[in-house]
Amino acid sequence: MTLTSSLIKERSLLGLKDLSRSEIESLINRAAYWEASTDKVTPILKDRFVANMFFENSTRTRFSFEMAEKRLGAEVLNFAAAASSVEKGESIYDTVRTLESMGIDAGVIRLKPIGVLAELAEKVGVPLVNAGDGNNEHPTQALLDLYTMKKEFGSLNGLRVSIIGDIKHSRVARSNLWALRKFGAIVKLCAPEVMKAPELESDAPYVTMEEALKADVVMMLRVQLERHATGMLKSAEQYRLQYGLTEERAAGLASHTIIMHPAPVNRNVEIDDAVVESPKSRIFPQMTNGVPIRMAVMERAMRL
Ligand code: CP
Repeated sequence: MTLTSSLIKERSLLGLKDLSRSEIESLINRAAYWEASTDKVTPILKDRFVANMFFENSTRTRFSFEMAEKRLGAEVLNFAAAASSVEKGESIYDTVRTLESMGIDAGVIRLKPIGVLAELAEKVGVPLVNAGDGNNEHPTQALLDLYTMKKEFGSLNGLRVSIIGDIKHSRVARSNLWALRKFGAIVKLCAPEVMKAPELESDAPYVTMEEALKADVVMMLRVQLERHATGMLKSAEQYRLQYGLTEERAAGLASHTIIMHPAPVNRNVEIDDAVVESPKSRIFPQMTNGVPIRMAVMERAMRL
């Protein structure tokens, strides 16, 4: 079936900034449906083909998408840039067009550069789902984060969420911030000066670490060393002492406060080893919640 360009647009998920609150709500509600399903596989996407195209490394997102797609009965093609003709210099556009020419019905894509995805989505004839583009957006991560918070607190309205750490390089922070604001959550940011994104200040204030810890949700971010200019992180221990969720700081959180982190985690840098699997931590439940969220997203992208 050839989709019209407006249907392709409707089925794609490039970010949450421009997605309506009701669309986000319907994805979250559908994820709850899939989570409650007792069937491991419900083949509503039988005979549908999806390519997971990762031009940047991933563990959680890639496998979570694959799990979601297989639970819906889709045929899954996994593409890894390091084992492809990208190594011979083939462009992202040519790679996606190649898979489209072979007959995929949708593509999941992770990219390093920002600003490429929207242009790509205009040019290809299948829905695209953003699995993380540079420091721009990581919509399915934020959807699973919102789902995790909603399961915990029932409503996001008035929920105090602090996002702490390497905001500058974080697509997770941006997608969460833009989505949470649509639901009336009170978002605060906390970061060392060199890891702040000043352009986000109009959406959420930067506060001290002490202030940030007075929240219902403390979302820690990974220090993204691979995106840093040289010398940005002077000392891991210094960072831990100033901005890390140490055991001592975690012990001082309110009894109802939960700790989140998109992972992978730099243990004993932004979060202490003992805190990662502590009772307040929802880090592994976040990964669990990623599967039904991505089932909802892939159903929206591909169901006939
Ligand atoms: N949270 C997240 O995006 O993890 P991966 O990079 O392993 O996919």
